[in-house]
Amino acid sequence: MTKETELEARLEQKERFEPPASFIEQANVSDPDIYEEFEENWPDCWERAAELLEWDETHDDVLVDDDEPFYEWFVGGRLNASYNCLDRHLADRGDELAIQWEGELGETREYTYAELHREVNEFAAALRELGVGEDDVVTMYMPMIPELPIAMLACSRIGAPHSVVFAGFSADALATRMNAAESEYLVTCDGYYRRGDALDHLSKANEGVDGVDHDTTTVVVDRLGDDEPHELDDTQRDYAELVESQSGADIDPVSRDAEDMLFLMYTSGTTGKPKGVKHTTGGYLSYVTWTARAVLDVKPDDTYWCAADIGWITGHSYIVYGPLALGTTSVMYEGTPDYPDKDRLWEIVDRYDVTQLYTAPTAIRAFMKWGSDYPAAHDLSSLRLLGTVGEPINPRAWKWYYKHIGDESCPVVDTWWQTETGGMMITTLPAIGDMKPGSAGPPLPGIDARVVDGAGEEVAPGKAGYVTVNRPWPGMLRTLYRNDERFLSEYWEAYSDPDADEWVYFPEDGAKIDDDGYITILGRVDDVINVSGHRLGTMEIESAIVGVEGVAEAAVVGGDHELKGEAVYAYVILEDGYDDDEAMRERIVAGVEESIGPIARPESVVFTPELPKTRSGKIMRRLLEDIANGEELGNTSTLRNPDVVSDIEAKVRGD
Ligand code: WT7
Repeated sequence: MTKETELEARLEQKERFEPPASFIEQANVSDPDIYEEFEENWPDCWERAAELLEWDETHDDVLVDDDEPFYEWFVGGRLNASYNCLDRHLADRGDELAIQWEGELGETREYTYAELHREVNEFAAALRELGVGEDDVVTMYMPMIPELPIAMLACSRIGAPHSVVFAGFSADALATRMNAAESEYLVTCDGYYRRGDALDHLSKANEGVDGVDHDTTTVVVDRLGDDEPHELDDTQRDYAELVESQSGADIDPVSRDAEDMLFLMYTSGTTGKPKGVKHTTGGYLSYVTWTARAVLDVKPDDTYWCAADIGWITGHSYIVYGPLALGTTSVMYEGTPDYPDKDRLWEIVDRYDVTQLYTAPTAIRAFMKWGSDYPAAHDLSSLRLLGTVGEPINPRAWKWYYKHIGDESCPVVDTWWQTETGGMMITTLPAIGDMKPGSAGPPLPGIDARVVDGAGEEVAPGKAGYVTVNRPWPGMLRTLYRNDERFLSEYWEAYSDPDADEWVYFPEDGAKIDDDGYITILGRVDDVINVSGHRLGTMEIESAIVGVEGVAEAAVVGGDHELKGEAVYAYVILEDGYDDDEAMRERIVAGVEESIGPIARPESVVFTPELPKTRSGKIMRRLLEDIANGEELGNTSTLRNPDVVSDIEAKVRGD
């Protein structure tokens, strides 16, 4: 064995890693007493988060819980999010970079805090002139271009909540979300680049607006320039012209109540209808700022890079709000990690001297497959910390990341959280907790997360159970937009005991806990699947498939996938007279892309004459998952139609 392979083998076996001493020395948070301090001083401990912001008025109460589970945080406090992300940095850091943007084709755009502040003011003035008032929801349907965070901050400046719809979602998905939020304003763009090709985005946006059942005004950013001209109709305005017409405008940041809505974010749940998660100005902003500082160790002089998309909560919290509230430089990259070559990320880290990288396990698995020569060809020594988010990370991928990207000298934080939690909930603090590959770590200070059985009792170490959060936290969602009832039933009903005044939040994830309190997340236990870190509702995909002509019934499950984590498996029953041929398969795939987007495209479509059902008529999804994963099937005798299982299995195996 060479020395190198011997070390490799040792790393392979190692299951516990201490935070590097060089990191501890300089960390924002390095005193282990923080856990106890938060515990002893709860909920006032959260003032430490609020103190990271500048308030127009200080709160009267940290937490008001008169109407559980409709908690209120920093009650009586007033602030403006865009002021906190921009204005307050101007004196000291006006000429420092706020956003370091790189387009897929290699062009770059840099915004200092002063420049970002300028354009945000101008666009805020333009939005006002278009008629946007306080509390009007403005929808954004944009890829990773600087105008997206600018539009978000412009909205927050005038107290208009934003609702960002991921650019990869379909026109239908956009229409559904604009209708649900009664949003009359849309900010979008003509197109963007993917793998070097210009993609038309405006046609999709226009088609979406056609499906909106009220009048709308659209602002269009010209991303593609004169080579790819586009036309605007009389409900549409050009972004650059609007900003130009407001040149030099100053808009006073609107002082918002801590509990006023900062934004809405639609996410998938058990039913086919997306949920409008409501986040507030004071609690959310405090929480993401605090966690970005404590967990990602963000400092003003850093060049920090979260390689997520702002269309998801990760980008809201940890590309835009948290990092900018801390006055750091946040890197934004428009494109894919393998264009023009598979070292694009490492080239960016090298060129900008990136200090922290926060990305998803699905990306790490791809890097691992591409091989360590790509990162090895670049100088990654500027990196100080690595993070992952969005799905469980297998220990092999964790160790690869730790070794080949972090050179065994950067702590890796595996951060568990959700759209609903606003910010991170379970992770090690990078200078305090040992890292255990595959396990997210203990709950953050002040967070009471547990692993319980079906009755809410804590399970023994090593046993599988469910995650619950038994105390509120500032970044929590306040409700589902205009749907308090669903908020209660989705998140609180399972484990709360209202008579005893016990309120327990249920995130719908499975987990196990070790003796040392470290929690390993085992994945969703509802009908949500996680494809490449993207959250998709199986019911949404099923209803898209059933919408295809000739489809009688469909069941969708997540099957294991080497790169994506999970992939969409669709089992489809056709109506009489339709053939289960390639053309039908293609129509089904197209139907899913049209109603949700390419991210929900089924990996496999299996035609079957029947679905396995219990005697009461419930589809046995677990069985379909086992078939997708090629696993040994358990007892099928409770099925109404046990024979169907072997038929489906044979089809999947391609017999
Ligand atoms: C679901 C939430 C967190 C922002 C991006 C996703 C899964 C998230 C982890 C992790 C294992 C994770 C959970 C969660 N998840 N982080 N570190 N380890 N699983 O937000 O789209 O709301 O999805 O992602 O299943 O419930 P989201």
